[in-house]
This record gives sequence, structure tokens and C-alpha cells, in this order.
Amino acid sequence: MAHFVINGGHRLEGSVTIGGAKNAAVAIIPAVILAGESCVVENLPQIEDVRILEQILRHMGADVDFTPDGAMRVDPKGINTNTVTFDMVSRLRASYYLLGAMLGRYGHAEIALPGGCSIGQRPIDQHIKGMRALGADVVIERGVVKAHAKKLVGAEIYLDVVSVGATINIMLAAVGAQGQTIISNAAKEPHVVDVANFLNMMGASVKGAGTDVIRILGGRKLHGCTYAIIPDQIEAGTFMIAAAATHGDVVINNVIPTHLEAISAKLMESGAQVIEGDDGRDFFIRVSSNSRARAVNIKTLPYPGFPTDLQQPMMAYLSTAQGNSFVVENIFEDRFNHVAELQRMGANITLNARTAMIEGVAQLSGAPLFATDLRAGAALIVAALAAEGQSQVHNIGYIDRGYEFFEQKLRALGADIKRVE
Ligand code: EPZ
Repeated sequence: MAHFVINGGHRLEGSVTIGGAKNAAVAIIPAVILAGESCVVENLPQIEDVRILEQILRHMGADVDFTPDGAMRVDPKGINTNTVTFDMVSRLRASYYLLGAMLGRYGHAEIALPGGCSIGQRPIDQHIKGMRALGADVVIERGVVKAHAKKLVGAEIYLDVVSVGATINIMLAAVGAQGQTIISNAAKEPHVVDVANFLNMMGASVKGAGTDVIRILGGRKLHGCTYAIIPDQIEAGTFMIAAAATHGDVVINNVIPTHLEAISAKLMESGAQVIEGDDGRDFFIRVSSNSRARAVNIKTLPYPGFPTDLQQPMMAYLSTAQGNSFVVENIFEDRFNHVAELQRMGANITLNARTAMIEGVAQLSGAPLFATDLRAGAALIVAALAAEGQSQVHNIGYIDRGYEFFEQKLRALGADIKRVE
């Protein structure tokens, strides 16, 4: 199996360009089904999750190809099935968006329950609650969610937990429902707004995305469109943390700085320098550090709080900070699988339920490491880049799911990383 070999201790220096947002892409590609016409999706990240969705749509009968500049053109007219089987979705958590999109378009969908990262239980009860409120019969049988509606009708839906997936999935189904849907306690993540913008570009009426109340006026006639996905907040945050962890100096291009405020604030609190700028074409963020980090406390929260997806890379960074950092994971109950690996590199971390106490050590040392999920993989790479000596990072299939050209981008910044097949 492929793995990364990393010789740590090199400062990251130079500039890197961020790709399109994974978590927007995995919702926008299925959302094309709602248009019923061909759509072109630009600024897609070149990652495994996108390739899996491309295969699923082709398998369902959609026509998928790529424009000369790399945008994906999806024509959903040929879709000839309402069923997506486990073999197709087993590697893709976000396959649940096919449920909302197909229910909204055809009134019928049967989707095997998703696979993806193991970071906790990850129920989908709020997705189901929303679809039932719109009038769908939803049952789970033998690992398949079956949703069926003679007619979807807009409804008022209060989410019991702030869920990105449920907010987006209900938005997708509600676009196909007659009348108004109101989602309260909605997630406000940048990719929720991006999906709403895409739906509006297709002719839908989605208002309030980015606040905790979203109103959808469903039943409008939709059409094809061309849409460019926003830059990936988490990829950008990962490079910001890696720059600080290696005492580097990196300009991160193609970012939306407001999406990164929580990360910038915490990096600055730890003593790193973070500068936002505009080069006339793109916004950029420059992160540099020339001294040992100071300990900081982190609590993960829904946006605009500190993102759970950066909790793991941040812990790798804080492993060598001066003093004790407390990290509280409020979103997923089991997102600490990276801790055992960091401990093998010499990190001093104590876990107590959802809280990790990190007593900073002067230096981590390289070791054989195993990624257990996507962001755990990113955390191990950050740790290995900053560590003394050589590390091998295994299970990099997780990392390929969500980071495009990761090792090439890191190598261009001066990292000593290579993929060994
Ligand atoms: C999305 O997952 C992202 N995935 C995750 O990114 C991200 O970590 C997460 O949002 C939080 O920001 C995609 O966008 C594809 P949630 P999602 O529904 O939608 C509970 C990454 O590394 N919950 O916002 O599955 C749930 O258990 C990945 O890129 C319910 O109880 O997350 C969790 O505690 C991993 N019932 C909380 O809500 C539900 O029906 C938030 O989950 C749904 C969720």
C-alpha cells in the first residue's frame, strides 16, 4: 500500500494555492440532479471523493465529462435509477446528499447508508426528520435509507443539533417541495452558503443561508448553470497550521479570509504572525513563525467557531507548544484517534472524555504512523513535517479523499515528502 515518507525539520517557505472546497463539492455535484439539465461545476478539488461521485453519477446514467480547463460538466437527463448501492457509497460519507437531491427531483430515492471517516457515531436522524416533515415516508431497511413521497410540501423544521449535512440535505429536498420551507437552527458553514448560491444559480429561491434560519421557496422550475466552488477553508487552515508548526513563512493564495478567522485568531494567540492581503486577483493569508508556539485552548464549535476538521492538525501543532493546551472536541465524540500516533512521536497528551490536555514537549520525533481518518492523516503530516527524523505515514487513502496534490504542494514549499507506492 502507498505511504508517505517524510523527513521532518524543514521550514515551509513560499506560496501555495488552495483548491475548491471538498465539503461544498460533494453536495453541489449531487445537487445538479435537481436542475434536470446540464451544469458546469468549476474550481472542483481534484480529490478521491469527487472521483467517487463522478463514478456514482455515471453509474446512475448521468453524462459526466470535463471541459478543457478541468471543470466538470454533468448532464443528469439520462439518470435511470433511484437506487444507489453500498458498493457505490461505501467509501463516501457525503453520499447522503444523493438522498435529498433525488427525493427533491424524483420523489423517490434508495441510498445505502454511507461510509467515510470513523470519527464517532454520525447519525442521520435530523436528515430523516426533515424529509419526513416535507411529507416523505422514510424507512431504513438492511442498511438502505428509502425515501418516497407522492408530493413534497414545504414545512417548518427545527434542527435539534446544528448539522451541516442535515441543513444541506433538507435544502436540497425542499427545493423540490411545493411552497415554503423554513429550517431553524441551521448550520452556517461556508459550504452551506455555497450550496445555497448554487441552487439559486439554478433558479431556486433559498434565502438566509449563512444565518441560522434558511427559507426555501420550493417548486420553481430549475435550469442548468455554470458555478465556481469556493476555496477550501480546511485545506487553507491545514497549510496555515503547517506553516506555523514548521516555523515557516507561507503565503496561502485563493482563500476567503473571513472563513479562516477562528484559525487566524488561534494561531496569533499562539505567537504566529498572520497577515491577510489582496494581491489584486485573489485574497491571500501569510502565516509565519520564528519561535516556539505558546499553549492555547481550543473548543470546536459549529461555524464561525473553531472547526472540528482542524482540531486534529491543531493538536499536532500544540504538541510542541510551551505550556499546557486544552482542546475540547464538541462536535464528534470520537475524534481523537490521532492522539495515540502523536504519543508515539513523543507528544504528552492526556485524554479525558472530550477533552485533551497537551503538555507541550520541546520536539517530536519521527515514527511509523497510521492515519485513521482524513484529518487525523493531515495532523500526522503536520507533526511529521515538524518532527526531527523520518516518519512513514500509512493509510494515505484517507488523505487522498480530501487533499488535492498534497505532497506536491508541500514539496513546492520545501518539505521533504515522497509517496512510496
Ligand atoms: C460535515 O459532516 C463535514 N462533512 C465534516 O467534514 C465536518 O467535520 C462536519 O460537517 C462538521 O463541520 C461533509 O460536509 C461531507 P454534521 P456532517 O451533520 O454533515 C450530529 C471532513 O473531515 N448529528 O454537521 O456529517 C453529529 O453526530 C469531514 O472533511 C446528529 O446527531 O456533520 C455531530 O455530532 C469529516 N444527527 C454533529 O451533529 C444528524 O442527523 C454535527 O454533524 C446529523 C448530525
